[in-house]
Amino acid sequence: MIRTVAFDAKPYDREHLQQASAGSDIEWRFMDCRLSADTAAAASDAQAVCIFVNDHADRACLERLKEYGVKHIALRCAGFNGVDLVAAKELGLSVTRVPAYSPYAVAEHAVALLLALNRKIPRANNRVHDLNFSLTGLVGFDLHGKTAGIIGTGKIGRITAQILRGFGMRVLAYDPYPSEEWATQHGVEYADRDTLVAESEVLSLHTPLTPETHHIICREMLARMKPGAVLINVSRGALIDTRALIDALKTGRLGGVALDVYEEEEGVFFEDLSGKILQDDDLARLLTFPNVLITSHQAFLTKEALAEISRVTVANLTQGAEGLPFLPETALVDANSP
Ligand code: NAI
Repeated sequence: MIRTVAFDAKPYDREHLQQASAGSDIEWRFMDCRLSADTAAAASDAQAVCIFVNDHADRACLERLKEYGVKHIALRCAGFNGVDLVAAKELGLSVTRVPAYSPYAVAEHAVALLLALNRKIPRANNRVHDLNFSLTGLVGFDLHGKTAGIIGTGKIGRITAQILRGFGMRVLAYDPYPSEEWATQHGVEYADRDTLVAESEVLSLHTPLTPETHHIICREMLARMKPGAVLINVSRGALIDTRALIDALKTGRLGGVALDVYEEEEGVFFEDLSGKILQDDDLARLLTFPNVLITSHQAFLTKEALAEISRVTVANLTQGAEGLPFLPETALVDANSP
């Protein structure tokens, strides 16, 4: 049996993980709580833990997991900023992830946010349900002919760029590892970051969170954005300096902001806090702007993505238990590899 504790497991996670592991040796224990040093004891008799974006596998947590006999941290997501990989390597723990499940799901959500924000769909929908059929305040702009800036042209950034090209937008891109071949094929132009930020009416972030990309959208970048430009972030909250964003929004310079991720989302996003008192004043302030649209880290949430996440996670767990080296694209730290 591969005893595996899945932390922060929502009903849709449980359903898809169970489906994908039918007939395998995996024995699940599903936990509502997130993984941290304080909750690691839930994995005391497990070989593996299965975690998501807001679990906290820092050194203290990993040391405890190691003491409890855990050998494998299986992320059921792409981003791995929540795991101390250096500590995992030192402790001889394997760490795997699901590098790509449906980049389409995430890119399509970025575009859904852009369209909804620009054409003010949530406001319009609320109005008509209140029998207010006025159009005042609902003016958007044509995307056709405008410039979009894509920061990060990996799997998701490329698909987002391609969809926006389909709208007839000019697309500028920035990536330290550009793919000229892809850009030429899709009519995308690489530019330096400052030019991209200064020329874009739509700016969409598609980089992982690393020390280099932390607060990549800072006060100076926000000041360089075109007046009326919109900013979309479906990647990681800490790519944006939230306080600087709030200040920029207060000046009225930005056209709007759509966020699927938020710097301090841990403990808030994915949870039903209705009826509770929101303690995060920055999030509360963001929610007061009429030109801010927020979803709760749901860009990945399609049937196809959940099925693929579960399939790859189950394969990783099985591979780990059999002591076989992991596929290079899923392994972040491979303690099975000689
Ligand atoms: P990827 O690894 O395919 O692409 C990332 C790209 O960012 C690479 O081309 C890389 O060269 C580039 N990059 C790295 N540092 C950069 C920098 N300083 N400036 C500009 N570009 C830089 O990753 P993928 O699959 O496209 O995912 C991107 C991010 O999306 C993930 O790291 C994750 O944080 C986020 N994500 C969000 C989801 C959601 O549900 N909201 C779901 C899945 C991923």
